[in-house]
Amino acid sequence: MNDMQKLVERALSAVARSYSVYSGFAVGAAVLTDTGEIYVGTNVENASYGLSICAERVAICNMVSACGARRIMAIAIVASKDNPVVPCGACLQFISEFAEPGCIIVTLGSGGDVKYDTLSDLLPNAFTLGKREDSDERSGTP
Ligand code: THU
Repeated sequence: MNDMQKLVERALSAVARSYSVYSGFAVGAAVLTDTGEIYVGTNVENASYGLSICAERVAICNMVSACGARRIMAIAIVASKDNPVVPCGACLQFISEFAEPGCIIVTLGSGGDVKYDTLSDLLPNAFTLGKREDSDERSGTP
């Protein structure tokens, strides 16, 4: 099984742990780090709806807090919907903090369809302050 297949498998296993009692929309995500490790997340909802958090952001927070990784090479997202569902805008921005424009975003629907995009396909103009840890642009001035 290659890295991409493993990533999808891990995202699929995370969907089953989704806490989505309000929307009924279960999502699982898995991120592949530049060191070859995989971290997963699922959406976690709350009775105060606005506090709910998406699977992608949970996976990234797990990555950062578990091993301190700073680079995502690919992310897989599986949703309980027929067609593949791409990450919301907030999650794309969150991904962009830790990914290059060519980062692979693979999305799967429960119908079996698979869609491949890059981060720059979905978020061509990410907001940045130019202060990323490994960035050359450190001045912070416009
Ligand atoms: N959701 C995600 O987990 N990822 C996304 O990119 C979009 C939406 C979740 C949040 C909420 O629990 C449910 O899907 C319905 O919006």
